[in-house]
Amino acid sequence: MDKKLVVGNWKMNLLREEALELSGAIVSLLGEDYDACQVVLVPPYTVLDVVRRGISGSNIDLGAQNVFSRMSGAFTGEVSAPMLLDAGCSWAIVGHSERRHIIGETDEQIREKLLLSISCGLKVILCVGETEVQREEAIRESEDISTRKEMLFSPIKTQIKNALHDLDEERISEDIVIAYEPVWAIGTGKNATSSEIAEIHGYIRELLTEMFPRLGDSVKILYGGSVKTGNIKRIMSVDEVDGVLVGGESLSADSFFRIIKSVGV
Ligand code: 13P
Repeated sequence: MDKKLVVGNWKMNLLREEALELSGAIVSLLGEDYDACQVVLVPPYTVLDVVRRGISGSNIDLGAQNVFSRMSGAFTGEVSAPMLLDAGCSWAIVGHSERRHIIGETDEQIREKLLLSISCGLKVILCVGETEVQREEAIRESEDISTRKEMLFSPIKTQIKNALHDLDEERISEDIVIAYEPVWAIGTGKNATSSEIAEIHGYIRELLTEMFPRLGDSVKILYGGSVKTGNIKRIMSVDEVDGVLVGGESLSADSFFRIIKSVGV
């Protein structure tokens, strides 16, 4: 997985016809054999099959926005990793902030989902990020730079450690991607500055290499939160940014195409 990664999270949007049209338009714009970077489309469950058909024959991968932590059984409304693989997915997003904060998913549930997913053969995009309150508190309450950093990094450290502690190094580097998505930048149009992104991505890299001395350095770290055609070049020029997780702008074929082309240069 040495290529940069561009992931389009469609969230709870699009009906079947729209999904077919959007996925088909992205393939037409890119060309079937496009492979300058790895592109992943992550539509809602109800259109996974439609999008699978839309991207068939191309190098685009399919992903799911969530996954449950059991293989099968009496879990009404849930969808398992084997079902997602069967539907053509090779990726699953785990721990998105909308699931942490709106649905109330805990670190423990997120770890269970992640472990089962990778054991079934899905690659996982683990989302982490601080809230606006946590960032503001770190800036307001800290007396010196090192306390500020400690407070700022603390939610990210907890989320990553709780999800990944004691995992096999090989699995980490092959099957897991981290997405740093500051909660305050998601869907708000507010942008993290280059230095804010660099600071957190640098810390995540440090933490990964401390937890996984041999292969922590090879784990991809994506940025997400109001990624747009107008800021993609700046974001990709920041150190330790290996790709992007795009929400709103991935719903427009033209914008998503331009984002992909800016990453896969
Ligand atoms: P936006 O790009 O709409 O801010 O969403 C980001 C996101 O949550 C992707 O997972």
